Amino acid sequence: MKYKAVLFDLDGVIVTTDECHYKGWKKLADEEGIYFDRQINQRQRGVSRMESLEVLLEKAEKEYTESEKNEMAERKNNYYREYIKSLTPEDILPGVMDFCTMLRENGVKLAIGSSSKNTPTILEGIGLESYFDGVADGNQISKSKPDPEVFLLAAKLVGVDPSDCLVVEDAEAGVEAALAGGMDVLGVGDAVKGTNATYKAENIAKFDASLIK
Ligand code: BG6
Ligand code: MG
Repeated sequence: MKYKAVLFDLDGVIVTTDECHYKGWKKLADEEGIYFDRQINQRQRGVSRMESLEVLLEKAEKEYTESEKNEMAERKNNYYREYIKSLTPEDILPGVMDFCTMLRENGVKLAIGSSSKNTPTILEGIGLESYFDGVADGNQISKSKPDPEVFLLAAKLVGVDPSDCLVVEDAEAGVEAALAGGMDVLGVGDAVKGTNATYKAENIAKFDASLIK
């Protein structure tokens, strides 16, 4: 194989939780009377909870204090955690398990590189809490994507040089993070269309894996 490790983003790559993030932010925005739509939500992909809130507040008509912002982020997270309570292995996105099985059979290490602090809960919900060789997430980093920190940590956890890693991402910020870390990227979904991802596919199921063999 062309790579010794594949580092997966979680939300929108392994599992459908990107829709739960959208619904959580939308509920908060409606309560606060702030305009919010799916296009704005695309810019929240890959970035931390507080930075995602700042994206939402760009359309706010008043200034919020730090403590109001903390309360809003917590409120959104409570809605989000309610939505992800019902996650099951059925919510794993198409092609993910086949792709991971093929990689593992070929000796490739598998890791998670996610900005989300809810990563452990999500992995447990979908039954993959002990599946990956390394998990780097929002609880362990101080700079979220587009900074490469989370992917560099994931590479380190599996003992592979960044130049031997492929990142799978659905967010523009995530593609930038991987490239900044010296890694190749497979971009999936809409948000990566205008990016410099090394490979692009509608989803993992549609990716021609012979390109990395
Ligand atoms: C990323 C999502 O994976 O995690 C972002 O793409 C989200 O949309 C970020 O803001 C932080 O998530 P959490 O679960 O810590 O609020
Ligand atoms: Mg994502």
